[in-house]
Amino acid sequence: MFDLSGDPFVLFRSWLAEALVSEPVVHDAVALATVDERGAPSVRMVLLKDLDDRGFVVYTHFSSPKGRQMTRNPRAALCFHWKSLRRQVRAEGDVELVSDAVSDAYFATRARDSQLGAWASRQSDELGSRKELEDRMAAMAERFPDEVPRPPSWGGFRIVPERLEFWVDRDHRLHDRAEYRRTSDGWRGRLLYP
Ligand SMILES: Cc1cc2nc3c(=O)[nH]c(=O)nc-3n(C[C@H](O)[C@H](O)[C@H](O)COP(=O)(O)O)c2cc1C
Repeated sequence: MFDLSGDPFVLFRSWLAEALVSEPVVHDAVALATVDERGAPSVRMVLLKDLDDRGFVVYTHFSSPKGRQMTRNPRAALCFHWKSLRRQVRAEGDVELVSDAVSDAYFATRARDSQLGAWASRQSDELGSRKELEDRMAAMAERFPDEVPRPPSWGGFRIVPERLEFWVDRDHRLHDRAEYRRTSDGWRGRLLYP
């Protein structure tokens, strides 16, 4: 079932394409785990917005807890679970900032309200009331009547995996697992016990 000498990005793309068809909502949702400077982990869902030839790209606020953690401690882990397919993919690796040009290009594709929302949100800071947020949205709509530029504190991070693991549910908990590790001359795949 697994091509252990193959490219795990090819397998990932085919699973993601199948998930697009079979998952009822947000097939591209993924748990992102980061670690703070004391070594304490935290995890939350984000959306996978791009998969380029280096890794997985997600977008967020740089000043959010996850943004600060990935800046100070540029290591992260991802976990996809597609319930409809009974499949899991895990990825671990270094984090790098996406270029301004790439973040700008992605931001430009977002709906205007989502663009304004990125300006209005002080992600994960204390919010006094819903009205406070709505007032900030209205203020941003006035500030940017036409095009909305990307906020300087919002953009993409790329998780560049050095390890990818594919898991498929099988009977009697005898699941299939394949691990791919990046080596100096390409990927090395092997099977793992369930
Ligand atoms: C399905 C789903 C997708 C989400 N996608 C994103 C995302 O792409 N970027 C983001 O910043 N937050 C996203 N969130 C919100 C985060 O889970 C989280 O609440 C927020 O980013 C604050 O996280 P932090 O305080 O750990 O930085 C998403 C939440 C869910 C449930």
